[in-house]
Amino acid sequence: MMPVAYKQKLEGKSNSHLITFNDGNDYVVKFYQTGFEKSLANEWVGYCLGRYLQLPIPFGKIIDVTQEFSGQFPDLAEMSQIPYQFASLYIPNCQDGHDVETIHEITNHCSLAGVILLDYWLFNRDRTRKNILLHETGPNQFHLWMIDQAEIFGGYAWSQTEIENLPDDLIKSATHQLMASFIKKEEQFFQELEYIQTIPILLLEEIMALIPDEWNVTKEEKKAMVTTLVTRRHKVLPEVIRKFIKYVYRPLHEKRSRD
Ligand SMILES: Nc1ncnc2c1ncn2[C@@H]1O[C@H](COP(=O)(O)OP(=O)(O)OP(=O)(O)O)[C@@H](O)[C@H]1O
Ligand SMILES: [Mg+2]
Repeated sequence: MMPVAYKQKLEGKSNSHLITFNDGNDYVVKFYQTGFEKSLANEWVGYCLGRYLQLPIPFGKIIDVTQEFSGQFPDLAEMSQIPYQFASLYIPNCQDGHDVETIHEITNHCSLAGVILLDYWLFNRDRTRKNILLHETGPNQFHLWMIDQAEIFGGYAWSQTEIENLPDDLIKSATHQLMASFIKKEEQFFQELEYIQTIPILLLEEIMALIPDEWNVTKEEKKAMVTTLVTRRHKVLPEVIRKFIKYVYRPLHEKRSRD
């Protein structure tokens, strides 16, 4: 896939750029940045797992925007010229969670438990209102997309020691609360847990193996990611999800039935 036209720089600290490719689509492209060394690897791992779980995550790809192309645009020329970037298919006509005032229905509510579980499994503290996109499908009715997995594993510049010691507590997230209020059955959390627990370890290893060498994730760090994922899905996730149901999900729904 080759870039054909540069559109614009997008908002946010990750310096994303909107670029048209020769498949005819626009993609949001994130470049490797010093100080944010793990963000592209995080995006890749988060994307692959979200996609395996059939969650509403825009189609993603590792691409190579050549220096020849970047050199033509000042905003791109100043980005790191390390090969390979992460591209996420641009979803047009969306608002983020801050921009929408009233939501009566989320059409893909069946996916919401999966988004929350994935965030806990990967320890993503960054599921803010800006990191969901809402596409209006009817009056106050929306399809939800998850974007921005750059801060999974605790952040965009994690060290091996950090991912080996990720916290197992509840994460404060108004967006998780919002999503939880649209989940219709508690059992969905346990269904998703089972999907996560049965992902083949070989697939996790393959996902890590596809991280480009240029992104400077060492062999040991890739191994540590797999170990962390395998440990957390059995030792951390079941307990923390029970806590989430008890302290977040149930209070929201009990309040609703009292109203
Ligand atoms: N697939 C997508 N379709 C449409 N818009 C997107 C998509 N991915 C990202 N965006 C938009 O591009 C901008 C940057 O996205 P993203 O949230 O991934 O990075 P960021 O906000 O810079 O990172 P951070 O949240 O860490 O500051 C945001 O305005 C977001 O709404
Ligand atoms: Mg963001």
